[in-house]
Amino acid sequence: MSQSTTTKTRAVTRNKKASKMPKFPNDFVNKIVCGDAVKIMKQMPDGSIDLIVTSPPYNLKNSTGNGMKDGRGGKWANAALQNGYSHHDDCMPHDEYVKWQRDCLVEMLRLIPEDGAIFYNHKWRVQGGLLQDRQDIVAGFPVRQIIIWRRKGGLNFNAGYFLPTYEVIYLIAKPEFKLIPKANAHGDIWEFTQEMNNEHPAAFPVNLIDRIVSSTNAKIVLDPFMGSGTTAIAAINHDRNYVGIELSPEYCEMAEKRIKKHKAQAKLL
Ligand SMILES: C[S@@+](CC[C@H](N)C(=O)[O-])C[C@H]1O[C@@H](n2cnc3c(N)ncnc32)[C@H](O)[C@@H]1O
Repeated sequence: MSQSTTTKTRAVTRNKKASKMPKFPNDFVNKIVCGDAVKIMKQMPDGSIDLIVTSPPYNLKNSTGNGMKDGRGGKWANAALQNGYSHHDDCMPHDEYVKWQRDCLVEMLRLIPEDGAIFYNHKWRVQGGLLQDRQDIVAGFPVRQIIIWRRKGGLNFNAGYFLPTYEVIYLIAKPEFKLIPKANAHGDIWEFTQEMNNEHPAAFPVNLIDRIVSSTNAKIVLDPFMGSGTTAIAAINHDRNYVGIELSPEYCEMAEKRIKKHKAQAKLL
């Protein structure tokens, strides 16, 4: 694997005229490309990625209740995400958000071959008394299974409802996708403690992504919302290649440093 480098969005824009747009695979494989997920995915060829594992922003600040929007905290009072992401306000009108996520899924589906799969992590919530089960995002995409990720522990200071502990992972797969032998024994409820030691406000736990990557034969794994680089860490753990896309230059740098440190610890550098 070659060493990771960050391709800055501004550099991408500046180089447009000089036809120096990043080229697949050299500018993508084992790199974090800093820019917008949809725009960057559009520069990648059809069928070039075996597996996509991702967790988009959940649009948490667009909340009808006492959510994170007004800074009072409410049910997110204890969440690191209360401070938000560095370069994304997570507060789109719902319809706009759904359209954006569907545009992302269209690109993701184009990027995987006939035996490829997407593991798309999201969270269900109740808004204005109605369940937002994300069906409006995934409708029409080949959802094969819903995995429940049960996080452990957590704190709930609100006596109005039980402590929320689960998220969902949609397995969206093309027809020939298969798990490796014996991986199907895992069942569809996975318990993994949420990530505690990460500066990023919404990082995956590495062992959750290890479970996904190691359940497939994928040679190359994409995360279009790479954040702190967890999917890359899991890819490295299982000797697979990765492509990361992340909007925030801060998180790109965070991911680069983390990957470098991880490779050094694993004596891969
Ligand atoms: C839920 S977090 C992903 C965290 C990641 N799974 C990890 O383990 O660190 C979502 C990420 O999407 C990024 N993001 C927001 N808008 C984006 C866009 N248009 N294109 C690419 N990344 C974006 C945010 O900066 C944030 O880091």
